[in-house]
Amino acid sequence: MDWGIKNRLSQLIKTNGRCMFLPIDHGYFQGPTSKLERPGETIKPIIDYADALFCTRGVLRASINPENSKPIILRVSGGTSMVGKDLANEGLTTSIEEAIRLNASGVGISVFIGSDYEKETLLNLSKLVDEAERYGIPVMAVTAVGREMEKRDARYLALCCRIAAELGARVVKTYWCENFEKVTDGCPVPVVMAGGPKVNSDLEVFEFVSDGMKKGAIGVNLGRNIWQNEYPVAMIRALRAIIHEDATAKQANDLFNTVKSEKGK
Ligand code: 5RP
Repeated sequence: MDWGIKNRLSQLIKTNGRCMFLPIDHGYFQGPTSKLERPGETIKPIIDYADALFCTRGVLRASINPENSKPIILRVSGGTSMVGKDLANEGLTTSIEEAIRLNASGVGISVFIGSDYEKETLLNLSKLVDEAERYGIPVMAVTAVGREMEKRDARYLALCCRIAAELGARVVKTYWCENFEKVTDGCPVPVVMAGGPKVNSDLEVFEFVSDGMKKGAIGVNLGRNIWQNEYPVAMIRALRAIIHEDATAKQANDLFNTVKSEKGK
């Protein structure tokens, strides 16, 4: 691996091999997502606890302070919306020249395996890897499930992660599922977990993140279950403790309750 890509990866994945990515890219197909209407305000209290931000160039330029930012993973796929025909029909939205201009530490792209656009999105990934690696920029592949959340099982996610890695992704983002070790065991590059739609119990989030870490994930790219929580600071600190300090789900829950009562929101 050349110096540039090693250096960028080390900005994203810390020396302990773990990472806490904070995604705020949801507006690229959902529009003004609840609690993310003003992304700059959303991240203000929580950005210090993240290792990197995942966002589009539009939000980056409009809402993120360039003088005091975390490393950026730039979302470079899109072109679809919640009200359009098919969320899977994504293309590349942002050039590598733009990623370099924005000093991105990585770029992220969704692939929709099993959809009508499987081939197109996988070829988009391959093309992006070809272009990004030329400049030492690592690619994170997002194994998207679109609206079909029931697709979140080990067999399907293992297939998606392996294919994304085979095509050159340096990191793969997927969902936690039962038997998560089947996903990580079959994937030769680091795997990070997304959170998915906000769940009702905080403990549930700590439990699946803790389980995923034990089963081989290196961290999370987890958004809504942090910034849609009533106590986002408590939430991100508790998750950070699981990822960077090996806290158990119960310890994380205790920390969540302590921070919640000490500092309010
Ligand atoms: C949206 C994404 C998000 O980055 C990813 O799903 C993680 O966010 P969340 O934890 O809210 O699911 O790729 O398309």
